Amino acid sequence: MYTQLEQRGMHQPPVNVSTLHKMKSDGEPIACLTAYDASYASLVDAAGVDLILVGDSLGMVIQGHDTTVPVTVDDIVYHTRAVAKGLRRAFLVADMPFMSYSNPDQALENAVRLMQQGGAMMIKLEGGEGQIDIVEHLARHDIPVCAHLGLKPQSVHKIGGFKVQGRDADKAKEMIESARRLQDAGSDIVLLECVPNEVGQTITQSLDVPVIGIGAGPSVDGQILVLYDILDITQGKTPRFVRNFQQDHTSPLAAVEAYVKAVKDGSYPAPEHCFS
Ligand code: KIV
Repeated sequence: MYTQLEQRGMHQPPVNVSTLHKMKSDGEPIACLTAYDASYASLVDAAGVDLILVGDSLGMVIQGHDTTVPVTVDDIVYHTRAVAKGLRRAFLVADMPFMSYSNPDQALENAVRLMQQGGAMMIKLEGGEGQIDIVEHLARHDIPVCAHLGLKPQSVHKIGGFKVQGRDADKAKEMIESARRLQDAGSDIVLLECVPNEVGQTITQSLDVPVIGIGAGPSVDGQILVLYDILDITQGKTPRFVRNFQQDHTSPLAAVEAYVKAVKDGSYPAPEHCFS
């Protein structure tokens, strides 16, 4: 992982929070992907991905569960440590799993584990009004935070399935307000999953921090997808927002490079990947 010496000779310096904020203000789309091990992390980094997330989606794509609920902090630490070994340039974010941030002190303790033992540079948590005090507590301790809004997969059993969020005007208003409050509480990035284009656009325009979308339309500051979905490894039905980048390419590296290019030139997401 990027040592001080290597950094000096690098053509492109490692991405940090300031880089991501500058990309937003310059209007340069941020290309993000998940990864779960050192080999894929190294490939994704070499392809030019700006931000890598060790998502709790690993519970589904690595461990074979139906949801992300069974994932533990130990699981995320293990995979984050492996991913960190493969990185040279990309910014590394690790997910806080289900019930690992149910109060501010527990959140701080687990975030510190992901950073100290895993090597994460930022943690992501599924947030809303109920997590404002947690984000404030983490921010007060200089823990960089990405707040995940919209479809929150850890709440799948409460919301009754993986569904588009914010279609109803009141719910959209609530989400826009929560995004602002999470930013004010200290979130450095907001991630939006499965929301109508218009909600993605309104939140992106009303926040100073970068907004990364997955099924949140073309107007957000960056896109993220699950690596195994774009490489066509995921079996069965994939969500509407997924595009198979492997089908026109002979190697995984070429497929990920095509994803980065499509995010940067705005050709992904196309209307068929979006919600209204
Ligand atoms: O866990 C994950 O991989 C995620 C992304 C889908 C954004 O949260």
